[in-house]
Amino acid sequence: MPVISAPHAFNESQLYVDLRSIFGRPLYLKCEGFNFAGSIKLKAATEMVEAAERDGLLTPDSILVESSSGNLGVALSMIAASKGYRFLCVTDSRCNLSTRLLMEALGSKVHIISDLDANGGFLGARIEYVRALCDTDDRYVWLSQYTNPGNWRAHYRKTAPEIASQFPRLDVLFVGAGTTGTLMGCARYFRQWHRPVHIVAVDAVGSVAFGGEPGRRMIPGLGMSMRPPLLDESYVDEVIRVEEADTIRACHRLARRGFLFGGSTGTVVSGALDWLSRHDTRDLTAVAIAPDLGERYLDTIYQANWLHDLYGEHILDSEEMATGSRKSPETMTRTTGRRPKS
Ligand SMILES: Cc1ncc(COP(=O)(O)O)c(C=O)c1O
Repeated sequence: MPVISAPHAFNESQLYVDLRSIFGRPLYLKCEGFNFAGSIKLKAATEMVEAAERDGLLTPDSILVESSSGNLGVALSMIAASKGYRFLCVTDSRCNLSTRLLMEALGSKVHIISDLDANGGFLGARIEYVRALCDTDDRYVWLSQYTNPGNWRAHYRKTAPEIASQFPRLDVLFVGAGTTGTLMGCARYFRQWHRPVHIVAVDAVGSVAFGGEPGRRMIPGLGMSMRPPLLDESYVDEVIRVEEADTIRACHRLARRGFLFGGSTGTVVSGALDWLSRHDTRDLTAVAIAPDLGERYLDTIYQANWLHDLYGEHILDSEEMATGSRKSPETMTRTTGRRPKS
């Protein structure tokens, strides 16, 4: 019986969904949404705050400030409330309403940026705002998830060993890329492992994280409007980019089987199914990481008006696309230097 006295002390780290019966492909989905912050960002937030405390950066006067599309903001809100720090989250107009309300319920302040930057995203403007705040008042402490090594280290120390302990014969790992903290921590861990693991990064079409043209992205979590400073592509074997329409179809396909996941899980699952449809999967062990759950997306991905306004009325008519058996033509795959296994 786990008994805790701080909210970040609990995290369900060993729950997997076997997706074979839903999509007909061998894929285990590691669920990271079962903690009090509701997402994988609990790990990065805990690691970064504890490192700042060890380094003496945080005092009772400190005000934590961070740019976040939502989930890190919720995790930091929870930790700040538990430890008695103040926290200001700088987010943007794509942040779900329920995520913003959650942060406020936990006692945080939320600032919303609504002007797009030159890359068609909000990130540049969010970071500029945080920098300006820190320049004017030295009580502000910016952990900077985009550059903080604690972000990837959390996954090197926790997420990857959790997977390794359950899947000693892992062949391929699919990881969504935002800041690339999860990707880099897992990729670094498995590079040193007892057998080679093919690391596939899954990104959103319209993100410029791995190059490519910037474009509209409405689903928070994955994708970046700048190159992620933590990214070292020499650890990544392959990059798959997924259209938001395919993300949405994958989310709804899962929801129809009772599994309500967040948007980035739909992206990772769609990308993984596409990859699995193009490879020999006999004796293949494949794992994908689901960063959060679906309740925060009830007014977006799971709401008919939002879907129809942005993606058209027929967005859910051809759900087989989400299985990887028939991809939309815009879906792109790019292979890096190292050879994929088949
Ligand atoms: C829902 C969701 N998915 C994926 C990610 C990406 O994770 P990372 O920043 O480790 O690349 C995030 C990050 O905020 C997220 O909130």
